Amino acid sequence: MKFPSTLLTTLISLSTLPQTLAFPTTTDLTTLTPRSNPGDSRSNPIKGQIEIRGSDALTYDVDCWAMLCKGKSPVMQKVDTDAADKNRQVDSGSAANKQPFKDPSKYGIKALPATNAWGNNKGWVSAEEFPFASTMEGGRDAILVGVTLDAQNEQKTSLRSFYQTNKIKSYDAKTKKSDGTWFEITGFKVKAGKTASIGPYCKAFNDNKKKGDLCKSTTNVAGDWGFDVAQYAYVYNHSTKKFDYVGK
Ligand SMILES: *[C@@H]1O[C@H](CO)[C@@H](O)[C@H](O)[C@H]1NC(C)=O
Repeated sequence: MKFPSTLLTTLISLSTLPQTLAFPTTTDLTTLTPRSNPGDSRSNPIKGQIEIRGSDALTYDVDCWAMLCKGKSPVMQKVDTDAADKNRQVDSGSAANKQPFKDPSKYGIKALPATNAWGNNKGWVSAEEFPFASTMEGGRDAILVGVTLDAQNEQKTSLRSFYQTNKIKSYDAKTKKSDGTWFEITGFKVKAGKTASIGPYCKAFNDNKKKGDLCKSTTNVAGDWGFDVAQYAYVYNHSTKKFDYVGK
């Protein structure tokens, strides 16, 4: 069949029309759907890896154990320093402020292993808590394990750097703004130029959260620091006002 030339011209021009007419342009799309950026919600967190510097490997191994073996989520919402301070308090928080590991017998908790060279011969006296005090999930029911003050201080630096590098904001309690506050820890790596070694629970977390036998009470998973963090884990019980053993 022979097309009349005018129809043929129309057909040709239709087929070569720019796609922008057939589909909404990207500008149209943003006006049609509400803007949602990573970090704005639990289901759309900012994803990032934490960079370990040295002795903070111990603190993060506590966190990795809690995520790997105790069902704690790697997705959290960052809060500001006021809220973080409340999370450490005794009344409604994790009770890390009680500093139970400084005087285990006073609080009816197991004595921690002897200090050693890895810990620069300092005590495991500072309470690492997970979920972090700097998150909405922190505070009440957070898991506590004694680490050295050096490890805790180094973690303060590496966690702050993680928040800054990934532009993770603090939830604003006044305006109730959640924009950019949700994050997910996807793994742990050694910071360039540092000679830290990643702990055993964090290695498993990195390896697609492969638990194997690591969570079993019969498996001793000691890191370079010489002990299994899971065997010294506690949670503050607000009704008995005592630290309950979590263990493996
Ligand atoms: C606190 O301790 C009591 C008594 O041992 C126990 O029944 C309760 O479950 C504990 N609370 C929590 C939140 O574990």
